[in-house]
Amino acid sequence: MKEVYTFEDLSSRAVLDAGADKPARLAVIGHPIAHSASPRMHQAALDACGVAARYIRIDVEPGHVAEAFERMRDLGFIGCNVTVPHKLEAMANCEVSPGANALGAVNTVCFGGGVTRGFNTDGPGFRNAVEDDFGIDLASLKVVILGAGGGAGQAIATQCVMLGVPKLVVVNRSLEKLGPLVERMRNHGSRSEVIALSFEDLALHEHCLGADLIVNTSSVGLKAGDPSILPDACLRAEHLVYDTIYQPAVTPLLAVAMSVGCRTSNGLSMLINQGALAFQYWFPEAQPLAVMRKALGHLSAG
Ligand code: ATR
Repeated sequence: MKEVYTFEDLSSRAVLDAGADKPARLAVIGHPIAHSASPRMHQAALDACGVAARYIRIDVEPGHVAEAFERMRDLGFIGCNVTVPHKLEAMANCEVSPGANALGAVNTVCFGGGVTRGFNTDGPGFRNAVEDDFGIDLASLKVVILGAGGGAGQAIATQCVMLGVPKLVVVNRSLEKLGPLVERMRNHGSRSEVIALSFEDLALHEHCLGADLIVNTSSVGLKAGDPSILPDACLRAEHLVYDTIYQPAVTPLLAVAMSVGCRTSNGLSMLINQGALAFQYWFPEAQPLAVMRKALGHLSAG
């Protein structure tokens, strides 16, 4: 058994399942993919449900997603997860659900019934994470998203607008990257007030102070020595602060937020919730959340 399979390994069952006691029937595809925590939580859920199948990592190079889907379908896969950089390529190669269409990306695929169907559990997973961590409905919150130009930021921003949050402030280093996102969100017909800012905008401070939930979706905080993405003065004790990064478990932004007295959480809950929703597309009766949380417990310590 391999830690990471390749597109070529999808050539036959004999190759794919060599040395394994159970057939691979679910996977996460991405490039690179070696770091993915998805197999650990999905395998735990499969085992807990008594499904004799493996969930594997497959490194698929850009341009090969359609063919990878075809091979997985031919090999009898139930479905797969899709991660960076394939969420758009996946969307172009399956029947897209209305939710995934609105979010502009596919992260979960089902191969049942001879049709390849694509869904997005990132946005709903974030909503559930906020509910789990803070006990509050995301739909009721005034939200600031820092680094909204990236993939995670766009999914969360769109989810907020779909839910009709009263106010959404999207912030990005390069303001021009927010243009198409804001255009899409304003055309959505939602009641949400949407404001786009750069980090240099003097209004950032005031918009942050007026918000309920501040979310970091940028990559700032991943690397040792990164600064906090937000000036300290933009935080007040009443804020809920969510960082989509989960390694390290406490980013510089979360460290400042904790010192101010804010309630905080990190991306582990989003990872688990999007995973649980994906699993339920494949096994609608399953309740995998607790098992998945336990399987990734080692990450909560950072
Ligand atoms: P993805 O791969 O998810 O699409 P990405 O391109 O790595 O994401 O970028 C994620 C976010 O982090 C972007 O919003 C990016 O800002 P830009 O659009 O301006 O590039 C943000 N980001 C990365 N480094 C940053 C930094 N040093 N300061 C502020 N934002 C930063």
